[in-house]
Amino acid sequence: MRIILLGAPGSGKGTVAKRLTAYDGSVQISTGDMLRSEVQQDTPLGLKALKFMVAGNLVPDELILEIIATRFELNPPSGFLLDGFPRTIPQATALDAMFARLGIQLDLVANLVVPEDVILDRLSNRRTCSNTACQEIYNLKSNPPGAGDTCRKCGSLVIQRADETVEAVTRRLQVYRSTTEPLVEYYTRTGQLLVVKDLKTDDVAASIIRAAGAHACI
Ligand code: AP5
Ligand code: MG
Repeated sequence: MRIILLGAPGSGKGTVAKRLTAYDGSVQISTGDMLRSEVQQDTPLGLKALKFMVAGNLVPDELILEIIATRFELNPPSGFLLDGFPRTIPQATALDAMFARLGIQLDLVANLVVPEDVILDRLSNRRTCSNTACQEIYNLKSNPPGAGDTCRKCGSLVIQRADETVEAVTRRLQVYRSTTEPLVEYYTRTGQLLVVKDLKTDDVAASIIRAAGAHACI
């Protein structure tokens, strides 16, 4: 599958990406996970990105575009789930140009639509594996971590992300509405948008698989 996952913070992009990876081996490419890994390793990019991330703001386009171009050009995946990218119009147009250059055809853009009260509840109960090579996602209510707050996959401690404060979540939701939501119209115009209103991960994954399969048969 070659898919973009669009949706507000907490809409479940990372969770369904991991589920879809298990379905057909397509790789999850999460710009948020990549940035958190750079931050933890204290790289120059991580140091530049950190102040934007903890405040709930977007990292500048040029930094993100460099990460994505490097990922696709050095190690082009045959199937991918883009999680958290693009999230600005300039990122989307740059991605279109990169795909045209590399001859990559997108299957669809899945927009995960989740009511705001559900989002806030999900984010306040989220826990994430602290091992940046893993970053498995948990939820104290719907998918709890293992005993002693450990990751059930790799055994590392699970933590709350640095951008999980009330202030940062509020800001991330504002930024989503002002800067990322216009991509819904962008991809409606290209005819690639699939609106997904399911709330259970199994149903979200099934809707995407069905639509991607239908697209592949055209
Ligand atoms: P990023 O890491 O992408 O964060 P986000 O978009 O705010 O999204 P989240 O990861 O918070 O939510 P999600 O949709 O993945 O939901 P999840 O699956 O975890 O970005 C972080 C920061 O990096 C940005 O703020 C920015 O600074 C920077 N950045 C990243 N990409 C960038 C870009 N392209 N340009 C510029 N800056 C960029 O689920 C949430 C919770 O709900 C979990 O607890 C999960 O277990 C639970 N859950 C999920 N689905 C379900 C379900 N169906 N039922 C019940 N519970 C569920
Ligand atoms: Mg995520």
